[in-house]
Amino acid sequence: MTRPNRLHPPLKTRFALLVACAAAAVLLAHCEGGGAPVFVQEPLPYPQDALAPYISAETMRLHHGIHYAGYVEKANRLAKGVRIAGSAPEDLIRAAAGEPGRRALFNNASQAWNHAFFFKCLKPKGGGAPEGPLAERINASFGSFARFKNAFLSAAEDHFGSGWVWLVQDGEKLVVMATADADTPIAHGLAPLLAVDIWEHAYYLDYQNRRADYVRSVLDNLVNWDFVAGQIQETQKSGGAP
Ligand SMILES: [Fe+2]
Repeated sequence: MTRPNRLHPPLKTRFALLVACAAAAVLLAHCEGGGAPVFVQEPLPYPQDALAPYISAETMRLHHGIHYAGYVEKANRLAKGVRIAGSAPEDLIRAAAGEPGRRALFNNASQAWNHAFFFKCLKPKGGGAPEGPLAERINASFGSFARFKNAFLSAAEDHFGSGWVWLVQDGEKLVVMATADADTPIAHGLAPLLAVDIWEHAYYLDYQNRRADYVRSVLDNLVNWDFVAGQIQETQKSGGAP
């Protein structure tokens, strides 16, 4: 007598239970932070000494290897157990923004995101004025590249304390803004195009208290305008902030 080639009902039920338990275990692990870390420390897109003499290798070693690495490590540690809708770093930042109980998470998550973005905004032999459609967008929003540059330098000089200076897309317009401490445009629904870190750790070894000289040096010699132009294209594809 041949046995039917199917699971016996009780065995089938137990198998279904096992599958359900396994799925629940995976979900629980994700919710409790047992999955992949939200933030990954991105490598520098150029050698550590490639931005010298405008930003020294020692500044980059400390900035990328110590400060940025610290933000990534702390953000991932603080994100464990946090339940949010979505799994992208930007989802986590938006979920933590303005929540008093998640201040440390917001600060470290934003700093991890801001630094990864900032390092990509730079390149050796960069800077100067952009060309093509990006130049047209800047002219349309500011009147000229010189006026954009003045607005960016003023924002850096006028900002009190640590923070960031940004070129962002706000609807159809490009706007210069500064954010304090770890704050980031993506927490405000704006799409970042260019960032310059104005925390003292970004420039003090090379420029001491001359923040304006550092920002001018970045604009003149290091901005990766191809990356900035790419961010506008990304914004057009996604329809807004990341
Ligand atoms: Fe920094």
